Formats: sequence, structure tokens, C-alpha cells
Amino acid sequence: MKINKLWNDYGLLGSLKLLYQFITSKFIFWNSRLIRRPIYIRGKHFIRISKGFTTGVGLRLEAYPKKNNSAIIEIGENCQLNDYVHIGAIEKIIIGNNVLIASKVFITDHNHGYYGNKDFNSPPYISPNNRTLYSEKVTIGDNVWLGEFVSILPGVEIGAGSIIGAMSVVTHNIPPNSIAVGIPAEVIKKYNSKTERWEKV
Ligand SMILES: CC(C)(COP(=O)(O)OP(=O)(O)OC[C@H]1O[C@@H](n2cnc3c(N)ncnc32)[C@H](O)[C@@H]1OP(=O)(O)O)[C@@H](O)C(=O)NCCC(=O)NCCS
Repeated sequence: MKINKLWNDYGLLGSLKLLYQFITSKFIFWNSRLIRRPIYIRGKHFIRISKGFTTGVGLRLEAYPKKNNSAIIEIGENCQLNDYVHIGAIEKIIIGNNVLIASKVFITDHNHGYYGNKDFNSPPYISPNNRTLYSEKVTIGDNVWLGEFVSILPGVEIGAGSIIGAMSVVTHNIPPNSIAVGIPAEVIKKYNSKTERWEKV
């Protein structure tokens, strides 16, 4: 049954390629489900993935801790990251279980320099590459779905069960079981478990 479906979905060459990618996935992350290459990984030692990890092509994972030596990108069970997802961490990015990340999504926990309201602002005459990196932890809860082209910026927490609409830029926390869209992303709907509907807020 499953072989039939594979054949129907991908044809002979596609199925063989998938089988090859399935086998080579285990050499990249032994507990992954399917990693479609090419994949770009920096700091593999600092990345922890869990079973069921599935990716599209062109995934870019970069982990270069500024302080300790423990994992700084942690990805829960049964997560699917589609084509050209880019995740860059120097402090901590935690992704929960069963998270679906559409293509071309960007998640970062750091900026080149600091531009907020504390007194160590980075001056413009230092080249961006030489500014001290500033970071804040990012957390993405279980069962979250990030739409195509979403960007998640440093310090953001997205509550479990939430959805971020395509093309949104998330600059502040999103509560659980919410739908948020736009730049900056704002909550437009929340799930009401009594009526079992997503209701406009
Ligand atoms: C977020 C999303 C799930 C919302 O679906 P929905 O609740 O059925 O949306 P609605 O059509 O009811 O839209 C509600 C409002 O939000 C707006 N809206 C919806 N998605 C938006 C988005 N991505 N960006 C900006 N505004 C958006 C709608 O225009 C509408 O505004 P209005 O009330 O002023 O008319 C959907 O719009 C979306 O972005 N899906 C992502 C698709 C994707 O990336 N697929 C990849 C597959 S892995």
C-alpha cells in the first residue's frame, strides 16, 4: 500500500531518490526521518533533533554558542521543516513537538549589535559584522504552524497550538492557540474550546 502511494506520488526516479535520501539522512542525524539534501549545518554538535525530523531541500541550521557548550538549537519530535528554512542561534532556539514550518521561514535569536533602550547601543560607524552580537531566547511551542516566508525575531515566544500567517514577521510574543498575521504579527483569531471554533478577536 505504502509502496503504491510512493510510486503514485513520486514515480520511479523520484521514489529511488527518496529512498537514497532516506538512507543518507541517518548519516546526518541518526534519529531523523527524512532529510532532503542539500542541507547546510554549522555547529552540528550544538543542535539536538528528535525522532521524526523531516526536512525539505536547502535547510540551513547554524548554531554557534557565544557562551556554554550545550545544545542551542533544540527541535522536538515529529517536526517538519520545508524547503530553505534558515535557523540561526547563538543563545537558544527551542522548537516543540509536531511543529510544521513552511518553506523559506527564518528564525533567529540574535542581532548584529543592540539598538534598544539600554545604554549599550551599537554605533553606526562600526561595520555590522563587527558589532557585538546581542541575543534573546526564542521558543516555539508544540503544534505550532508557521506559514510560508515567516520571520521570527529574537526574544519571541509562540504559544502551543498557534498559527503564524504567511509573510508575517513576529517581533513579540504570541499566546497559545492563536492565529497571528502581518508585520508585526498581531493576533486576529483565538481558538474557543467551548464552541470549537477559531473566533475573531
Ligand atoms: C493565517 C491563515 C491560516 C489564516 O487563515 P484564516 O483564518 O482562514 O484567514 P481569513 O481568510 O479568515 O483571514 C482573516 C483576516 O486576516 C487576513 N490575513 C489572513 N492571512 C494573512 C496573512 N498571511 N497576512 C496578512 N493578513 C492575513 C485576511 O485578509 C483577513 O483580513 P480581514 O478580516 O480584514 O478581511 C492563512 O491566511 C495563512 O496565512 N496561511 C498560510 C499558508 C501557508 O503558508 N501555507 C504553506 C503550507 S506548509
